[in-house]
Amino acid sequence: MLWFERPFLAVLRHEYAAAMRFAEDDTAEVMPKAPASPCQLYVHVPFCEVLCPFCSFHRVRYNPAKTRRYFEALRREIRLYHDAGFRFGDVYVGGGTPTVDAEELLETLALVRSLSPVKTISIETNPNHLDPRALERYRVAGVTRLSVGVQSFDDVLLARMDRLQKYGNGAQIRERLAAAHGIFPTLNVDMIFNLPGQTLAMLDADLDTLLALEVDQISFYPLMTAPSARLKMERSMGRSDPHLRHTMYERILERVLPAYRAASAWCFSRGHGMFDEYIIDQDDYVGVGSGAFSYVGGAMYSTTFSLNHYCRRVEGGQSGITQRRELKLKERMRYDYLVRLFGGELKHEYIARRYGRAFALRMAPELAAMRLIGATRHDPDAIRLTRRGMYCWVLMMAEFFNAVNDVREQMREHIRAELDTWNEEAKVPVSAIGRLTPEVKS
Ligand SMILES: C[S@@+](CC[C@H](N)C(=O)[O-])C[C@H]1O[C@@H](n2cnc3c(N)ncnc32)[C@H](O)[C@@H]1O
Ligand code: SF4
Repeated sequence: MLWFERPFLAVLRHEYAAAMRFAEDDTAEVMPKAPASPCQLYVHVPFCEVLCPFCSFHRVRYNPAKTRRYFEALRREIRLYHDAGFRFGDVYVGGGTPTVDAEELLETLALVRSLSPVKTISIETNPNHLDPRALERYRVAGVTRLSVGVQSFDDVLLARMDRLQKYGNGAQIRERLAAAHGIFPTLNVDMIFNLPGQTLAMLDADLDTLLALEVDQISFYPLMTAPSARLKMERSMGRSDPHLRHTMYERILERVLPAYRAASAWCFSRGHGMFDEYIIDQDDYVGVGSGAFSYVGGAMYSTTFSLNHYCRRVEGGQSGITQRRELKLKERMRYDYLVRLFGGELKHEYIARRYGRAFALRMAPELAAMRLIGATRHDPDAIRLTRRGMYCWVLMMAEFFNAVNDVREQMREHIRAELDTWNEEAKVPVSAIGRLTPEVKS
């Protein structure tokens, strides 16, 4: 653990929690205005066959009929954006588990490609869906990156995460990954470090397996826990040791970096041209589906977390957006500073074009603090992360996602009745489904 880790995390927690607060807004017009050039599209598919205890993403138990209705709504919403002038160059389908219904997913990808000049398509999946015939269909459908959630190859840890039964044991996952290699330009594997009960020896064994598999990309996340979900997670999985986090991260860098380059502080790629899902090249991105976030023209948007409400809204010709928050100049600067440096560097030319001299003035305390603790280096052309800075940015990004996950947990708590019973008529308070739609009462 670094000497400043505790106070550093306390400050971040406070800052990010405030940044994620959506203000009340009664504006009727909630669809963002289309930017001039194509932007990123994020498609959220919240269904999973098993709900892992550590996960705070917006996910619900798989239900075939609900899933079909939901995908139909997704396609309607995508058409709505197209009609409003949006074009998409890069598409990311995340979840949940987007591959729970292959036919629906394929139909959705075909629609997006028919409407926009799509360059890349990334989809997330789980190891039990690595059927070679299905993968071939995804390749033909234009998928350029397949991201497989593995977390660990250790059977004890997989059992603790409730993933062993449904998603397969370590040996099975290894075999399926080996067979999937080479089908897509990028095969990414999602891993987690600093899991409760995970030792350095277990981490080393996971790294041995990954390096032997020679997958194109490895994303190694620290275990993230939204404050509101911490107790529940610890009750089912145990507590992770914060003192091991830095040691484990250093071990990952030590073992992975010779063969891979850091595409971001927690994503390592073999080749060039691969991307980390958390690096935002374009300024704007649109999220469709329930519980998706968008960032367009300096404002953040969130869609309703109620699946029933989402489907009804879209079937009625509206987007899923129910909340909006205009980011202040300083918040935009901070967001850029966080996200760009997470990718390794922030070019001075980029800062000058977007903010001029105001950036150095407004961001002076943050810039000085990160330099002082040895996290950044100020080169003539860019600000860059140092090795220590990579770990700081892992902490920062993790705290940012903890704040996002806190919002998700709170929203989902409001719609518990709907999620638990799949009841169409479950009473969902308006505060949970959105403040911009006073016409909706259920
Ligand atoms: C949200 S899942 C969606 C894809 C797929 N369902 C899966 O399980 O991989 C994407 C990845 O997020 C990561 N993830 C989810 N919850 C996490 C947490 N609490 N901390 C760290 N990473 C997490 C896992 O590595 C997971 O593979
Ligand atoms: S980790 Fe993946 S499979 Fe597990 S609940 Fe989260 S989204 Fe679903």
